[in-house]
Amino acid sequence: MPLTPVLSARWGAERPWSIETYRDLDGYKALPKAFKATPDELIELVKNSSLRGRGGAGFPTGMKWSFVPQGDSGPGAKPKYLVINADEGEPGTCRDLPLMMNDPHALIEGCIIASYAIRSHFCAIYIRGEAIHAIRRVRNAVAEAYEAGFLGKDILGSGFDLDIVVHAGAGAYICGEETALLESLEGRRGQPRLKPPFPAVAGLYASPTVVNNVGTIASVPSIVLGGADWYKELGPEKSPGTSIYSLSGRVKRPGQYEAPMGTTLRELLEMAGGIREGHELKFWTPGGSSTPSFTAAEIDVPLDFDSVAAAGSLNGTSAVMIFDDSDCNVRATMKWIEFYAHESCGKCTPCREGNFWLVQIYERLENGEATAAEVDQILDICDSIGGRSFCALADGAVACAQSSIKNFRDEYLLHLEYGGCPFHETGEQPEL
Ligand code: NAI
Repeated sequence: MPLTPVLSARWGAERPWSIETYRDLDGYKALPKAFKATPDELIELVKNSSLRGRGGAGFPTGMKWSFVPQGDSGPGAKPKYLVINADEGEPGTCRDLPLMMNDPHALIEGCIIASYAIRSHFCAIYIRGEAIHAIRRVRNAVAEAYEAGFLGKDILGSGFDLDIVVHAGAGAYICGEETALLESLEGRRGQPRLKPPFPAVAGLYASPTVVNNVGTIASVPSIVLGGADWYKELGPEKSPGTSIYSLSGRVKRPGQYEAPMGTTLRELLEMAGGIREGHELKFWTPGGSSTPSFTAAEIDVPLDFDSVAAAGSLNGTSAVMIFDDSDCNVRATMKWIEFYAHESCGKCTPCREGNFWLVQIYERLENGEATAAEVDQILDICDSIGGRSFCALADGAVACAQSSIKNFRDEYLLHLEYGGCPFHETGEQPEL
């Protein structure tokens, strides 16, 4: 099936990260066009394109922008901020980093257009601390953009001023949660705030703030150039555009594949050369470990926000982690739960304690010490965690444990019977 590159269109070019290459390939052409429109017209354009947030939740971008109060008095009189969430940390997710490495100017041009639309004069790009290479790359690109007059005062003679600051996180998964990110940006410990109020109303320094993901904002220049109707035709009506699907695990050619939203796993596997020789698809995540995993039965589910939700999971970050018949579902789930327990910020008791206890049970299963009652206890603990904390971190843990038991209870029982994990190092599928 043909690729429709929007976000990755320049990735194959020579030095795609340089401002020269970007400008040679239609870069910074959307900006003068955007300045000819009013901010409200731009918000309307993005609303009409039906672009949805690529951070995972799929919230309509134009609608989010329109929530930022405008005006000379009340909340509208406060400064407005644009914050880019580049703290990509969801297990299996790897699309913001290649995007920033290959095409940082698409992000910057998107930031300028979005800031103009929401009338913000300050934008912070918050990048994961471990990704030093991406931090350097985006900082260099920001410096190039200042040098070329795309940032700073009176950009392109429009009268619009914008400063961009690149902020390095410190490697905490929780800081990818937008309100924890804002806390961290303000210099405090990264812990989530209670929502509402949503950041669009009270965000950075309690001022109206749009927090958008890298891929969301990097899509904006193409939408300005191509128009809302062009963008809408790229994917399903309610989840249009393209997505960068990160394929990892037991697939012949893992990597980033840009394809229209609504592409199925079957089609993605065709692009990626299929499951490794001699093995069969067993289970997979449609959008990172926080989304309930699917089995081979869901191979034809269109991977867009609505279709995945209708099939009982979440589209999330389009991080497709693929496991085959040599993989133990219980062990994979244990590894994810260990991750959530480690990354829980500890603020909410159900998440802090619940994930700790889930790890204990998974370790007992792995070591052959668990009892049948403990399998159901996992589900009880999940009930006590889900929806009971400030942010979605614990809900992610619950989603992966619950879907694991729903799809692979037999494998849990096999662990009890076998006295530990029955899967061999050689990758033999045990008799179920
Ligand atoms: P959410 O649904 O609470 O919010 C999504 C966005 O819409 C936020 O920016 C929020 O401020 C905004 N929003 C929602 N309702 C609003 C309202 N009534 N008024 C104004 N704004 C509103 O989801 P959340 O907790 O922000 O994100 C969860 C998702 O994050 C999960 O689906 C997961 O896939 C994804 N995720 C992504 C990671 C990554 O590395 N990219 C890491 C972990 C999770």
